[in-house]
Formats: sequence, C-alpha cells, structure tokens
Amino acid sequence: MKKKVDVVLGAFFGDEGKGKIIDFLSTKADLSLRCAGGNNAGHTIVVDGKKFAMHLIPSGIFSGATAIIGNGVVVDPKVLLEEIKMLQESGVSTEKLLISEKAHVIFNYHQEFDLLEEEMRGKNKIGTTKRGIGPSYSDKMARFGIRMEDFISPKFASLLKNNIENKNKMFALYGKELIDYKKTYKEYKKYADELAPYVVDTVNYVHNNIENGKKVVCEGAQATLLDIDFGTYPFVTSSNTTIGGILNGTGLNASNLGRVYGVIKAYSSRVGEGPYVTELLDETGDKIRELGHEYGTTTKRPRRCGWLDLVALKYAVRLNGFTDIAMNHLDTVGKLDEIKLCVGYQDASGKVTTDYTTNPDKLKDMKPVYKTFEGNFDITGVKKFGKLPEKAKVYLKAVEEFVGVPITLIGTGPDREDLIVRK
Ligand code: GDP
Ligand code: IMO
Ligand code: MG
Repeated sequence: MKKKVDVVLGAFFGDEGKGKIIDFLSTKADLSLRCAGGNNAGHTIVVDGKKFAMHLIPSGIFSGATAIIGNGVVVDPKVLLEEIKMLQESGVSTEKLLISEKAHVIFNYHQEFDLLEEEMRGKNKIGTTKRGIGPSYSDKMARFGIRMEDFISPKFASLLKNNIENKNKMFALYGKELIDYKKTYKEYKKYADELAPYVVDTVNYVHNNIENGKKVVCEGAQATLLDIDFGTYPFVTSSNTTIGGILNGTGLNASNLGRVYGVIKAYSSRVGEGPYVTELLDETGDKIRELGHEYGTTTKRPRRCGWLDLVALKYAVRLNGFTDIAMNHLDTVGKLDEIKLCVGYQDASGKVTTDYTTNPDKLKDMKPVYKTFEGNFDITGVKKFGKLPEKAKVYLKAVEEFVGVPITLIGTGPDREDLIVRK
C-alpha cells in the first residue's frame, strides 16, 4: 500500500527549526527530500550535543534515510562537496545521497550577480544571503540555467562558455571584474566529475519507492513569508517556499500528500530586510535573541526577534493547509516573565483585522494587537504533554484555538531528544 508523504514547512521568515523536525520525522522514513532553495538555508540538527548546520543535504541523512536533493533546489557544487566531506569526516554515511538531474547549478557568476543586484537596489536592498540564489533561479526561468544532467555531460563546456560570454557583457557594462572562462571551467569540471555518481532521475525514483510502500518526508526550506508569490515581496527569496513548491520541487502529486507540519517558534525572527509587524526593537527583543541564540546559521547575522504572530500564522495555515503545528523554543519563552501573542493588526485608521496582507507599505503601518500570557516556566527534560506546566499549556491552547490546528510537536531544547510528541 502507498504511504502518504509528510511535509515540513516554515510558517514565517525561516529558521523555525525545520531541520530538527525533519530529523525526527525521518527516523520513521525511507526517503527524505529537499525541495527548494539552496545554500541560503541553514538547518540545524543537534545529535548527542554535536551541532550540524546543513545547507543542502536533507536533514534525514542523520537517521539513515535516502537523502534526495530535488529538482527545485539550486545547487552550489562546491558547498555540496564540502558538506559531503564534513558528514563523512563526522562518520555520517553519504552513500544514500541522490541529486536530481533537473536541479540547477549555481556558478560563481551567480554570486557576483547577487552582489551586483543588491548594489543596484541601493537603499531598497533585500539583505540576501549573497549565495547567488536569486540569479540562478532567474537563469532557470530565462532558460539559461545549467541543470545537473548538463553539468555532468560533454555539453557543459559549451553551455558554460556561452553563459560566461553573455554575463561578461553585463559585468563590463557595470565596470565589474570579468569571469575567466578557462579557470571557471577547470574548477567546475572537477566538481561535476565528483558529483556525477549522485545524479539520477529522482522523480521516477521517488514514485517507484512510493509505489513499493516506502515512506517519504519532504523538507521545505525558507518559509511562507519568504515565498516569491505569497511572501512580503520584494523582501522574499526566489522560490516557492509554500506547499506548491513541494510538488514542483520534487515531482510529487497532490494525492501523495499526507500530514503537513507547519513549523513555528514560540516567538518569531527574521533575517534580512522587510516588514515585520511583531518585531521588538527594545531590550525584550535583545533578550529573546540571546536566550534563543538567534544568530544566522548561514550568514551569522543577528536575527531580528519579536513575538509570535497569529495573524501571519493564520495566513500560513490558509496557504499551506497545515494539519499539524510543530512549535519549537517553548523553553526559550518560558524564561521570560511575560509572553505576548499577536492576535490582530490595527491599521492607521484604527481598524483591526486578522487577515494578513503582504503589501510592505500596508504592513509598515500595522500595529500589533497583543494578548499577554504568564511566562516563568521551566520545561527542561519534559517528555510528555501532560507534564507541561499549566502556564505553558494555556499559551499553547491560545495558539491552537486561534488557528484551529493542533500543536502536535513541541520543542523543549535544541537537541534532537528535546521534543514532546503529543499523542
Ligand atoms: P531551520 O532553518 O528552520 O532548520 O532553523 P535553524 O536551524 O536555522 O534555527 C533554529 C535554531 O533553533 C537552531 O539553533 C536550533 O538548534 C534551535 N532550536 C530548534 N528547536 C529548539 C527548541 O525547541 N529549543 C531551543 N532552545 N532551541 C531550538
Ligand atoms: P532556512 O531554510 C531565514 C532570507 C534572506 C533574505 C531573503 C532573500 O534556514 O529557514 P536569498 O539569499 O534567498 O536571495 O535572500 O531571504 N532567507 C532566509 N532567512 N532562513 C532561511 O532559510 C533563509 N533563506 C533566505 O536573509 O532576507
Ligand atoms: Mg535556518
């Protein structure tokens, strides 16, 4: 019998703790898939106190699942090879890693373009991760992209030459240093040869496995409010980070889908520019950053921090159809005296709404309407929902009642063991 595919998606601006949730779900899965984004993502898994920051390889690799980089991912080959080496040196097997033949490759000129485009935006910069993500997705859509299957074929040399000749015309126009084709080819050909054994037709591979009764889990990257269509455009990433991106980034179909886990933190955070209604620019924000160790996994930038936003969560539920919510960092808010939940947005005219808008100009004027809850609870080592302090339960219930989705996984610390699974 075919098993349903479970999906993990971020509900807000990323870094909700998706890696940890996927690591847990993968313990019961045969295949673990990454669907979108590239090494702009940083997913942390803490195994026996050792911290791993994964940028490209699906987090399911730690529990022995076949780890598949789907067609929707943009792959920086150098970063991927470094990640493979890091895992091997740590004793984690990479034998079951596969890369879609349709995944696109990030080249040095994409990173250069990322910097150039941010420069062009001037004071409207996005604050990208500078990993070449936007420019490589642009090339994919404009049909200049180089897929993995072409990267490892004899066609690679001529495709790269043509691209570099064209990109150099642009770099010359902007007075930037030109890309050296020969040097680039030599470097990337070596990467292609090393990655070739991993490249397969993952679409048929995944469907054959599903038809043979295997369990699949999918790891979303980034998060709902960074979605190219449904996020706070233009302060977004360049892929569909919501449920549609899971299908497009893997070749799965709607009937394959099972549970959809929306991952949130008991507070919120954002890295990079863009509107953020519940951001705290005061000492409470600083305190949350310190207590939650909110510094970027990928860029090490301090993350902007604030309260949990139920207006945004309701929007994420509508878009993704979450069947479950996984809430991490309940331990962190328990260290505060009081906790706030945003239950509405008040616009400049005084009107209160619970419908999220993605228009940055409108968001800028929205004031959060808060409900306050008691903090000061310690949940270290708690393994059962029933053993949680009453104050923590009251907070969880308020979130569930607002969005109508049960919180079935609760993070009590960074380690993979620090998780309450609610039966
Ligand atoms: P991702 O990108 O969604 O996978 O999230 P990140 O790994 O970028 O950021 C989440 C951070 O929170 C990491 O440092 C995790 O180790 C940490 N973390 C995850 N869950 C919990 C939790 O329940 N409690 C605490 N204290 N830390 C957590
Ligand atoms: P994970 O998967 C948090 C943000 C960047 C920037 C914007 C565009 O770890 O949750 P890009 O380099 O993608 O063009 O940058 O998106 N961003 C993330 N923020 N977590 C992420 O991934 C992110 N990936 C991109 O900071 O604001
Ligand atoms: Mg992250």
